[in-house]
Amino acid sequence: MPSPAKSPRLDLLQRPRRLRRTASIRALVRETRLCPAQLIQPVFVIEGGAKAKAEAIASLPGIERVPLGRLGALCKELAALGLGGIALFPKVDPARKDAEGREALNPDSLVLRAVREAKAAAPQLNLFADIALDPYTTHGHDGVLTAKGDDVDNDRTVEILAEMAVLHADAGFDFVAPSDMMDGRVGALRRALDHTGHTGTGILSYCAKYASAYYGPFRDAVGSQRAAKTGPISKATYQMDPANRREALREALLDEAEGADILMVKPALLYLDVIADLRAHTTLPVAAYQVSGEFAQIYAAAERGWLDLKKGRDEALLAIRRAGADIILTYFAASWARENG
Ligand code: PBG
Repeated sequence: MPSPAKSPRLDLLQRPRRLRRTASIRALVRETRLCPAQLIQPVFVIEGGAKAKAEAIASLPGIERVPLGRLGALCKELAALGLGGIALFPKVDPARKDAEGREALNPDSLVLRAVREAKAAAPQLNLFADIALDPYTTHGHDGVLTAKGDDVDNDRTVEILAEMAVLHADAGFDFVAPSDMMDGRVGALRRALDHTGHTGTGILSYCAKYASAYYGPFRDAVGSQRAAKTGPISKATYQMDPANRREALREALLDEAEGADILMVKPALLYLDVIADLRAHTTLPVAAYQVSGEFAQIYAAAERGWLDLKKGRDEALLAIRRAGADIILTYFAASWARENG
């Protein structure tokens, strides 16, 4: 007979706390982990040589616009961290913008010179191209407008994006990532790439991109804010309604059928249900974009001392992985990898 002093007060067969007793047991049973290879760092690029200054972005603390001449060194550093890749975003000279976004098809555009630099400096680093016209249009929309100017012209935009994707694949991008939300663009990009010999270039589709308030700092970073503020057409005519969940699955399955290799939800933390739905209904890798506003809100609260930056960051990234994302695009990628790689 055990002595009465040693018998527990509650007669419990199951005590889940046994698996939380020590840090090493918690590590042993942890269901979700983060590693640098699953993280993709967005990188903003500007014109400028090796001696040019990187520009700070007020609404994205710690993130800079990097001059072209310094991109190679940065890519080497990011590759050494073991990151899953970088997504390149150009800040285009306003003088090069027009209503049609023609600069997107300039074979010598900033982003195409940038990808050549990046590939040469760090051939093993995966490079993702954003395919949309918003950095190139004066109105800031992701596509060209109809003759009447009352809508974004879906089919004409898709033709331009297909050409743009081929140029980007030619220049060395490993993946093209259409972020425009036009109908039929994944299929059009796949066909255009295949017909030009780029069968190995992947498509990461922003299949469920919501018309979100959380893209503000990004639009500051690339200077594409005009459509959001002054344009007569709303991005809600192509980006998804934040109220909709089933529709995301419809978009995802269409993009899979059209040939997407990776499906992405954007933003991330506010759309964990959507990430989980995609994970349950596709065998493709699922990515999530923790967007600029998500980064900025964690940072801003931490600056005020209202939450702990690293703990807040790690909890958000883990939640996105736990919901089912295999891959995360995040402005925290490099800093996380530096601390945890
Ligand atoms: C544009 C694009 C946007 C982002 C990525 N690609 C902004 C937009 O749709 O206006 C946002 C990313 C972020 O907020 O971090 N095609």
